[in-house]
Amino acid sequence: MADGGVHFDPEVTVPNPARVYDYWLGGSSNFAVDRELGDRMIAIDSRVVPMVRENRHFLRRVVTWLCRNGVTQFLDLGSGIPTVGNVHEVAARVTPEAKVAYVDSEPVAVAYSARILEGNQNATITHADLRDAETVLSAPTVAGLLDFSRPVAVLALSVLQYFGDLENPAAMLDRYRKVLVPGSYFAISHISADDSDVDMDGLADATKQATVSAHPRTRAEVTALFGDAQLVPPGLVWVGGWHAEPGSAEPVPGILGGLGRVG
Ligand SMILES: C[S@@+](CC[C@H](N)C(=O)[O-])C[C@H]1O[C@@H](n2cnc3c(N)ncnc32)[C@H](O)[C@@H]1O
Repeated sequence: MADGGVHFDPEVTVPNPARVYDYWLGGSSNFAVDRELGDRMIAIDSRVVPMVRENRHFLRRVVTWLCRNGVTQFLDLGSGIPTVGNVHEVAARVTPEAKVAYVDSEPVAVAYSARILEGNQNATITHADLRDAETVLSAPTVAGLLDFSRPVAVLALSVLQYFGDLENPAAMLDRYRKVLVPGSYFAISHISADDSDVDMDGLADATKQATVSAHPRTRAEVTALFGDAQLVPPGLVWVGGWHAEPGSAEPVPGILGGLGRVG
């Protein structure tokens, strides 16, 4: 059982990225198998923990930046297990009427999201595979909440790495791109071994024991995922360095992030 009154099959024997990630972030929606893999990965390169924390801070800065720039609708693909500073909470601080459609394929993430969103008119969770854009976009929880005749920000943070090249994540995003009007955005973060001494190959190798394994990409490959969207300055950088507060510590390498505007 994961805590918090949400009950699941206790016979969880395979670690899952959503729950490993929750463990690293200090959450309690994870099982022993997830913690074991999480600890093995920390032993490979302990920077994995600050890396994912910086990814969450990146998410908050991106959402705040978007709201301040007039974008108030969000489609969060692979949204994960709710943790401190979820998209709808961050957005509502700037724009109380902001709309957020979360999408995830992992039952624990979906159950917790449903629980915290109960009674919320401005945010929904959809249990779906993001690879099936048509199903996601036509779900009443997405189509009934977001107005695609106005700009929408599609968030794909730390999720496209779970798709190998054969699955063609750029083509996956393109199916979402087709329904976006100019002034919409893609926010993407992705693990990368480029320009750093992080043992990303070792970390990625360890994920082969999980339900899905991770595939690091080069800077050029991550840039290509933005398609024709124009990167907002400072471009594609280590997530901790994207619009960092003055005086922030040097960003931890390992996850590249950026925000692209659809023209
Ligand atoms: C590492 S977590 C990232 C969570 C969040 N986006 C963040 O950056 O904090 C990756 C999430 O993607 C979800 N995911 C993986 N493959 C997916 C798919 N095919 N469809 C929907 N969600 C998926 C996992 O269940 C997990 O919750």
